[in-house]
Amino acid sequence: MAQQWSERFAKPLDVLVAEFNASISFDQRLAEEDIAGSIAHARMLGRQGIVPEPEIRLIVRGLEAIREEIRAGTFQFRLDREDIHFNIEAALTERIGPIAGKLHTGRSRNDQVALDMRLFVRSAIDGVRRALRVMIQALLERAEEHTRTVLPGYTHMQRAQPIILAHHLLAYGEMFRRDYGRLGDAYHRLDESPLGSGALAGTTFPLDRAYVAHELGFSRITRNSLDAVSDRDFALEFLAALAVLSVHLSRLAEELVLWSSQEFRFVIFDDAYATGSSMMPQKKNPDTAELVRGKTGRIIGHLVSLLVVLKGLPLAYNKDLQEDKEALFDAYDTAIACLRILEGIMRTLIFQPERMREATRAGDLTATDLADYLAARSIPFREAHGMVSRAVRYAEEHNCLLEDIPLVQLQELLGFPDEHLLDMLNIDQAVARRNVPGGTSPLQVEYALLEARAWLTQEQSAGGITSSAFPEDR
Ligand code: ARG
Repeated sequence: MAQQWSERFAKPLDVLVAEFNASISFDQRLAEEDIAGSIAHARMLGRQGIVPEPEIRLIVRGLEAIREEIRAGTFQFRLDREDIHFNIEAALTERIGPIAGKLHTGRSRNDQVALDMRLFVRSAIDGVRRALRVMIQALLERAEEHTRTVLPGYTHMQRAQPIILAHHLLAYGEMFRRDYGRLGDAYHRLDESPLGSGALAGTTFPLDRAYVAHELGFSRITRNSLDAVSDRDFALEFLAALAVLSVHLSRLAEELVLWSSQEFRFVIFDDAYATGSSMMPQKKNPDTAELVRGKTGRIIGHLVSLLVVLKGLPLAYNKDLQEDKEALFDAYDTAIACLRILEGIMRTLIFQPERMREATRAGDLTATDLADYLAARSIPFREAHGMVSRAVRYAEEHNCLLEDIPLVQLQELLGFPDEHLLDMLNIDQAVARRNVPGGTSPLQVEYALLEARAWLTQEQSAGGITSSAFPEDR
């Protein structure tokens, strides 16, 4: 068969070249977007009187029939037809004859693929945001169960101060809400239709670009045809948002791996989310969380790949841009899978509050409270810090905790005869005293939970960012 693009070529592509050049093996994933774009373009051609309406009806019906075939899985994608655009156009020609050739009036594959990618990223943003809402919901539910559970908070991986488990979980809630917002920001910049840019310079036909944009649920049209066909910033921004998201997922996963270790024993993985060892019968491994952590590399890698693909490209379209797809698709699939798995882990995780409290007691985590107490009684904080440090050293030398030092002894060590000194070392009181907005006191955590609930309810009722019927659920 002769090439799709023209008859000026005397011989077919070398077999290796055909394979190298083709994108159909992966861009068939854009079929829905491609057909939606073509239908909108065709309707506009009809309205503008560029192609007679009866022919447009034929074209649209043909495209709809092809879409049915693709959905049913009976459509034959052909490598010799290079990409999704040529595959659908050739199938349309087989169905309705040469009239099919009118569909490409005033359009190039360059603005066509730019459109398909924008449509894809738009629904992918919706998909990730939906998964994020479910993830945040799971975090909130678990946090609500643990508004009184104390555990050590860490800095430098050393036990630092007691915190509430819900506060710890809500910290991840904050990260995921920022991810949610970042994806929303990316959507607003993406929200313009490139159709009408042609190959690079626009088109000689009197297209109604705004109509096409509206049909496809875009708010605006792109302003510059050269930029529109060569721009993949929207894909970069999406990948960057996914890279940051994946770092958050990885941090949570890492924490769960640590917490499930014998050294911590703060959590037990549900059997459905853990695996065994082929050799060591006693092992229960948090493979799921480790894989979430590991897949971060892939997502960050895809962002870097696309950055590198784009960095040397002169205007306007260059075939290098075809390399945007696999990176984007895989990053999206991976992010969704990681979100779903981690959400399942979170929902089923068995927390060990007693073990957490035990770890909080060991290590004098309330030493700061004692120093704060002295500082509040007009001892300069630096000095108070030194006084308590001496008491900590004393406890260490005597192999006991600060709270085990008899009051008289403590008063003497600190040189501060006060009868409330030991109260300062109580864990629950220490937590409750951190009652500053954003702090870990149970009261503040209750406020934070209410705020987060309200946010989630609002986002859930707002639903997706794309109001149009297209794109479908992915
Ligand atoms: N398969 C191509 C891509 O993904 C479609 C655009 C091709 N345009 C061209 N002039 N070769 O980028």
